[in-house]
Amino acid sequence: MTEARQLRVAIAADRCQGHNRCCLVAPELFEADDEGNARVRGDGSVPAGLEAKAKRAVANCPEHAVRLTGA
Ligand code: F3S
Repeated sequence: MTEARQLRVAIAADRCQGHNRCCLVAPELFEADDEGNARVRGDGSVPAGLEAKAKRAVANCPEHAVRLTGA
């Protein structure tokens, strides 16, 4: 039996350069902080239906700063 795993996104703050593509492709999951860098909304949990957007955010960050865990 496989247990459902919770997908979660995170931003590696030491890599983020504020390109904000993550916020554009998945505004439900990311927002810009006061300095224009990204942060996750809430605790980073990816609600059902937003998995594809989470993966798109990972693929679109030129700094490889978006992390997806639980996949
Ligand atoms: Fe930062 Fe990448 Fe988003 S550089 S603002 S995590 S697209």
